[in-house]
Amino acid sequence: MQDRERWSTRTAFIFAAIGSAAGLGNAWRFPYMAAQNGGGAFLIPYFIALITAGIPLIITEFAIGHKFQAGAPIAFSRIKKGWESLGWLTITASFVIITYYSVIMAWVTDYLWYSLKTAWANAPKDFFFSKVLQISSGPDELGGFSIPVIIGLILAWGAIYWCIRNGVRSVGKVVKWTVPLPVIMLGILVIRALTLPGAIDGVNFYLNPDFSKLLEPKVWASAYGQVFFTLSLATGVMIAYASYLPKKSDITNNAFITVFANCGISFLAGFAVFGTMGYMAFTKGALVSEVAGNGGIGLAFWTYPEAISLLPFGSVIFSLVFFIMLFTLGIDSAFSLIESIVAGLVDKWGWNKKKVVRLTCLVGFIISLIYATKGGLYWLDIVDKYINNFGMVAIGLFEVIAIGWLYKSSKLRSYFNPISEIKLGRWYDVMIAVITPIVLGGILIWNIVQEIIDAINGKFYGGYPLWAIIVGGWLMLAVVIIMSIILGKIKSQNNLGRKAN
Ligand code: PHE
Repeated sequence: MQDRERWSTRTAFIFAAIGSAAGLGNAWRFPYMAAQNGGGAFLIPYFIALITAGIPLIITEFAIGHKFQAGAPIAFSRIKKGWESLGWLTITASFVIITYYSVIMAWVTDYLWYSLKTAWANAPKDFFFSKVLQISSGPDELGGFSIPVIIGLILAWGAIYWCIRNGVRSVGKVVKWTVPLPVIMLGILVIRALTLPGAIDGVNFYLNPDFSKLLEPKVWASAYGQVFFTLSLATGVMIAYASYLPKKSDITNNAFITVFANCGISFLAGFAVFGTMGYMAFTKGALVSEVAGNGGIGLAFWTYPEAISLLPFGSVIFSLVFFIMLFTLGIDSAFSLIESIVAGLVDKWGWNKKKVVRLTCLVGFIISLIYATKGGLYWLDIVDKYINNFGMVAIGLFEVIAIGWLYKSSKLRSYFNPISEIKLGRWYDVMIAVITPIVLGGILIWNIVQEIIDAINGKFYGGYPLWAIIVGGWLMLAVVIIMSIILGKIKSQNNLGRKAN
């Protein structure tokens, strides 16, 4: 048996964890979620979601990885015999996410190039859809590949592979750059935004509290979904990363640092994005709500570029700063997903890690080509919604059941408390065994009921046809589940009779 790889320093681990957490999800998803779901009032469900699910789960995942010294599958098989498949669920979910996350990275890569000549000119939305994606009429028409997206995709996967090629050694070196750099760039963009006329209206739109929104269940679901995604939970990433920590290593404080840094980046991004939106509204004599559009992907690829091209000077510089920031934010999230998959495979079969990295990137690249077709955006949208809203929440629920009931949270706590700088009280046990399962279970059931009601009324997500929802949503989830069960049942040398420690 080879010795397990180790992070060279504690900082390397913390940076890698923050790098995974802080990604494309922070830069525009969070600000827009806030603006849409009650502005400043959204921070209330967001904090509650952090306390009742995000923080307990990230501590738990760090502790699992550290104690059981393996990626998610073997870790869960050591927690409870027969539960290996839960670990494989996190791995297959990671695989699903990386195949489309890499495509968004491909768009970002393209925009690094387009920024040089602000290629979107004065029709950024049209540019994105017609020139970059060359979008087809619907999910039923794949319509061949978009060449710019394929080129971006090759470069994005090349970059992902390059960062991860030597495991945690190369990752440790890369995150020294890809974590501080986007924070500095974000700082520049915030200062630029807040010194523009009209910025204050944008900030008001972002943070003005609308407490009535707190009565809408959708707002709560968004808060929990955002917290899961942003902290990279339920993907095995944090388990794999923590498994490379040395024997004596803090758990809880590392988790708190990761959470605060990640959420700080999200909060700050709101000022950059909405300050700039305020300026755009000001120059156009429109309302911020009108110029902000419907957020999400659009905010990064056409609203923000448009706002930047209205700047009195430095459009090229500021759009470069913006897309370099997105690239460096996203790349360490992307390769963390690969690391989780590779750790799962290598720990079970003891294969050569370098070969597994190469193969995973290759297969990932081939599958991601689906989303590089002209109809790819539709499929990306459907898969993203179903893997997050149903897949991740369900995996998180199983994780807390496994730890809270089968393993016992008090036992895990008595493992990590003595090695940690911050000692947790009994609240942790109650949270993992009772509160988090109730909350996650409630959200899951509520989502499924809503889905059924919508289906009965003939309303399908995004207005897509039923068959597309079935293929990209339910069939995709079914494949994830079946593959995880099969992978968990296969026996190998490494998971027979090897015990923790
Ligand atoms: N946390 C990343 C983001 O906010 C996305 C991610 C999810 C990365 C799950 C790894 C695992 O963009």
